[in-house]
Amino acid sequence: MKKILHMSDLHIGYKDFLDGFHEIAVKLSNGFAGDPSDIIIVISGDLVENANNFDSYKEIKNELKKLKHAGFAGLLVVPGNHDYGTGSYGDKKFVNMFKQNFLEEDIEYPLIDIIEDIAFIGLDSMAAELHWYDKLWAEGEIGNDQLNRMDNILREYNIRSCNKRVIYLHHHPFDQKPFHQLKDSFKLRKILVNAINDNISIDAILYGHNHEGKSNNGHWGIKRCYDAGSINLKPRSKPKKNFPWYDKVENSTRVIDLEKIPDNDYKLSFISK
Ligand SMILES: [Fe+2]
Repeated sequence: MKKILHMSDLHIGYKDFLDGFHEIAVKLSNGFAGDPSDIIIVISGDLVENANNFDSYKEIKNELKKLKHAGFAGLLVVPGNHDYGTGSYGDKKFVNMFKQNFLEEDIEYPLIDIIEDIAFIGLDSMAAELHWYDKLWAEGEIGNDQLNRMDNILREYNIRSCNKRVIYLHHHPFDQKPFHQLKDSFKLRKILVNAINDNISIDAILYGHNHEGKSNNGHWGIKRCYDAGSINLKPRSKPKKNFPWYDKVENSTRVIDLEKIPDNDYKLSFISK
């Protein structure tokens, strides 16, 4: 079975993060985490620091293209709040721009990719968070339409018959921080717990957003619950540094082997600052 390399919160466009990520991409392409053809890369959002700076989309797109050419078995991305605006102020126009640049123009979330016998289900956790009345702050909301589609998809034969199922999204589904949380996480929980009770295993849930890189394994009956942190160690803004509910910024880019127990998963360290 292919391994998963989960990274998050690249924030390209912030300071010298493009250079930092370029070095990481070269290392990975040269086999730093193993043979690329055995690895599926999952990036759980915040590819860029500010979507209003169009160069950032182009720059990360270029790096991802190089990773694709290196022969990775998959390269899966979902948007984060910074991919749709400044991070605390989003704009609907970026929904299509993100699709055009990183996915397919007419694709609908959840994203479905079956790679060998693993079904990947990617959610847009900003989908219902871009209305005029709630687009401020860094909260997320998947929305009922997308959640209902996911509920149905989990029961489709091609998904049920896969050996493993992996959910990935940007916002942290468990850690409810003020102005930062996934507002409909309780609905997501219900769908995933019902699926598990119906013997449709959910083998991992991968996310980012908090930059803390913690694992919450076992939550909702899911063996692997991973926050990848920020691969470039993007620091918090000054006001946020004073909030007591934020922990230290970490890079927790993990290599995950779903065939083994979670204790065998390990973190990759790239940055020697
Ligand atoms: Fe982020």
